Amino acid sequence: MGAVWERVKRCAEDIRRATDFQPEAALVLGSGLGSFAEKLEPAAQVPYRDIAGFPVSTVPGHAGRFVFGYVEGRPVAVMQGRVHYYEGYPMEDVVLPIRVLGALGVKELLLTNAAGGVDKSLSPGDLMLLTGQITSFVPSPLIGPNEDQLGPRFPDMSAVYSPSLGARARAAAQRLDIPLQEGTYLQTTGPSYETPEEIRMFSLLGASAVGMSTACEAMAARHMGLEVCGISCITNMAAGISQSPLSHQEVQETADRVAERFQRLVWEYLRQA
Ligand code: HPA
Repeated sequence: MGAVWERVKRCAEDIRRATDFQPEAALVLGSGLGSFAEKLEPAAQVPYRDIAGFPVSTVPGHAGRFVFGYVEGRPVAVMQGRVHYYEGYPMEDVVLPIRVLGALGVKELLLTNAAGGVDKSLSPGDLMLLTGQITSFVPSPLIGPNEDQLGPRFPDMSAVYSPSLGARARAAAQRLDIPLQEGTYLQTTGPSYETPEEIRMFSLLGASAVGMSTACEAMAARHMGLEVCGISCITNMAAGISQSPLSHQEVQETADRVAERFQRLVWEYLRQA
């Protein structure tokens, strides 16, 4: 057995010892969405620290736990807290939770995040469905000996974001009358925000929004054959697009302002299989 798969299996077993809950879908909560976990009809919670070898966020005050529960009867696993590459974790650790969800039998994954708007047609507060991604500025989480239990050596990435899940997200947004933009997400390592020159380059490359998570998780999930959907909350315009300096406070304030709308959309999306 490969070393990564062995680690993934051990984490899944630790969770299985705590609960026999069988999630169908999983959701990773980005900035502002944390309280979504409280909306579920609860079944079980497993703190990351109770899972041997599981990465725990270094950001103070960040809840780190799996919340298992039901969205109108649909069994869902929610990750309240994720780790980022900029925290110093190797990519293998950053995507470990996604692989553990795959090992638990999850078939579809919804990734959410806060992102900076690169495309000038976006505005802070917009929600954006991810239709594609650029991962070329972060190391691939698939580097290393390939482990066939996880997926193939050379996985196809021509449709990272599932067209059918995307259609479901669009339909959910339409039913709720919530505007949903669409675009390409580009992941940087962070932790600094970008320079205006970098943002100009990313714009030329076709990026609509930029952030410090998600794309590597989506890649690891696709490697395992999971169906992936992604939604960004555009919390700010990227450097140089707006003239004002960027701050984590602005990101948090916008994420909090949009949280209620974002949560309603996620609920409506999840409740429909
Ligand atoms: N850049 C990178 N990551 C981000 C941003 C940004 O402007 N906003 C929120 N996350």
